[in-house]
Amino acid sequence: MLDQYLKDPDFLDKTRDIRRSTYFLKLKEAQHHNDSVYNHTLRVAYTAFKLGRRYRVNMEALLRGALFHDLYFHDWRDKNHLFNHGWTHPYIALENAKKYFSPITELEANIISSHMWPFNFKNPPRSKEALIVALSDKMVATTEIVIMFYNFVTRPLRTYKNQKPDI
Ligand SMILES: [Fe+2]
Ligand SMILES: [Fe+2]
Repeated sequence: MLDQYLKDPDFLDKTRDIRRSTYFLKLKEAQHHNDSVYNHTLRVAYTAFKLGRRYRVNMEALLRGALFHDLYFHDWRDKNHLFNHGWTHPYIALENAKKYFSPITELEANIISSHMWPFNFKNPPRSKEALIVALSDKMVATTEIVIMFYNFVTRPLRTYKNQKPDI
């Protein structure tokens, strides 16, 4: 359900160069909830892509902003990040995007830095592209948390059901 993007050739085609780049692939090692930032980012980008297709958006900026919105490589559970990760990671992601995927336009920069809005209420989305990515991030993150919680509470039950009978 979460990974429908794998079946959309248009999305895969438009994101190929970034998906295969060294620093984007490094997101496979970064933790996000119970998964990698890499998987989370592609889900957000695909949700934003589907929403963006319904409106007249700058699709290139929307996809680049979505793909870079969580471009951080630290472990958020580390004591240096644990308490401020929610505020700081959009700016860390923007710095990394400028460093590794330059040039970053103003539109793309706002998509990345504002995606936690209204959490960081002083930096709101200033375009429909930024609003779509911020919304997509919340939709995907909420779904991921619900699935993680569901897997956690049903684990004993599923383990029991999956037990093979003695032979
Ligand atoms: Fe984020
Ligand atoms: Fe995110």
